[in-house]
Amino acid sequence: SSSSSSSTYSSSHLLRRFHSSESSPDRKVAVLGAAGGIGQPLSLLMKLNPLVSKLSLYDIAGTPGVAADVSHINTRSEVAGFMGDDQLGQALEGSDVVIIPAGVPRKPGMTRDDLFNINAGIVKSLCTAIAKYCPNALVTMISNPVNSTVPIAAEVFKKAGTYDEKKLFGVTTLDVVRAKTFYAGKAKVPVAGLNVPVVGGHAGITILPLFSQATPKSNLSDEEITALTKRTQDGGTEVVEAKAGKGSATLSMAISVAKERVWLFLDPLLQSVRIGYKLTKFLFYSSCGGHHLHGPTLYAGAIFADACLKGLNGVPDIVECTFVQSTITELPFFASKVKLGKNGVEEIYGLGPLSDFEKQGLESLKPELLASIEKGIKFANQS
Ligand code: NAD
Ligand code: LMR
Repeated sequence: SSSSSSSTYSSSHLLRRFHSSESSPDRKVAVLGAAGGIGQPLSLLMKLNPLVSKLSLYDIAGTPGVAADVSHINTRSEVAGFMGDDQLGQALEGSDVVIIPAGVPRKPGMTRDDLFNINAGIVKSLCTAIAKYCPNALVTMISNPVNSTVPIAAEVFKKAGTYDEKKLFGVTTLDVVRAKTFYAGKAKVPVAGLNVPVVGGHAGITILPLFSQATPKSNLSDEEITALTKRTQDGGTEVVEAKAGKGSATLSMAISVAKERVWLFLDPLLQSVRIGYKLTKFLFYSSCGGHHLHGPTLYAGAIFADACLKGLNGVPDIVECTFVQSTITELPFFASKVKLGKNGVEEIYGLGPLSDFEKQGLESLKPELLASIEKGIKFANQS
């Protein structure tokens, strides 16, 4: 996670953590767009997540095959595939978390906003069904343009009388994942213990990584920070161009939503050995200052859906950057660090101290982000 933290660990705490996931409450997760480029690896990763008891895979085509395939994996959750409008209600009923990667991806030369005309309608109809069949679910929106699709979802839920601003999230985790990767590469520090908040929105200059708040901090030059900021903002485009017409980020996106302690379940026989290894690391790190206790050394990064499930289950101090209804700036929606709890958003953190460069970035992103938000609101209220 970008900044999960925890109280002091002892070895018995650690062992309890591993046991507790097996007896965690029943949770149904639905993936809408499950047969797509993101949907498939995401479904696989959610099948590996021990916090999930039911996994519901929905798409307009292709879900029977994906569901049959994923269902053979010998992990906790029961898998069911649903295809087409007629089965959407059944797919959604009883869901605790709905993940939406449905819609078209970019091709080279396109902006995320160029996807609006197709994806806005898809998101609107899916959210209408969510309001009807699982109005209490946490909804995590991946479909682009996130800066507009999240406000569309909010408006649809408001109209249906089911809107709870604590339960709607735009997934910006991939921006955090990229910021960490690029920063670690440039600063030549291990990426494992690194945290970098990313705020604003999820498109071009609206993506604002706060490298001045990176922990641990490295001394990079202003030029290096400028270049890293630009690379993070253009990370999606980098992948779109490299895929040359075959879509946008899918693998790094899926992990951004679903990452969990996958290794535990891939090789249960090795659990005790691995736990032993982790404990050794824990003891080693605690003997050299203890600050690694907060890092992904112990929990390999509970990323977004996983963070939502942990929050619902009452795990304390689950913090992720995500795009939510917010009052920390004058914009109605904004991504920043958010604490996740039993009812979704528990606390939205302020931006903290910004460098002059970041202050400038913040001011320049506001008009574009506001326009995208307003475009979504207008669309949702049109018909
Ligand atoms: P894809 O085309 O491979 O898959 C999309 C899937 O959505 C397809 O299987 C399609 O059948 C399905 N779909 C279309 N209409 C649907 C509907 N009405 N109901 C259910 N499913 C429907 O695309 P992808 O690469 O998986 O990307 C999906 C979306 O995610 C795109 O909009 C992309 O821009 C976005 N994305 C967001 C992030 C992020 O960080 N938030 C990252 C990567 C991609
Ligand atoms: C990303 O950041 O990779 C996604 O939003 C997909 C895209 O179009 O860039």
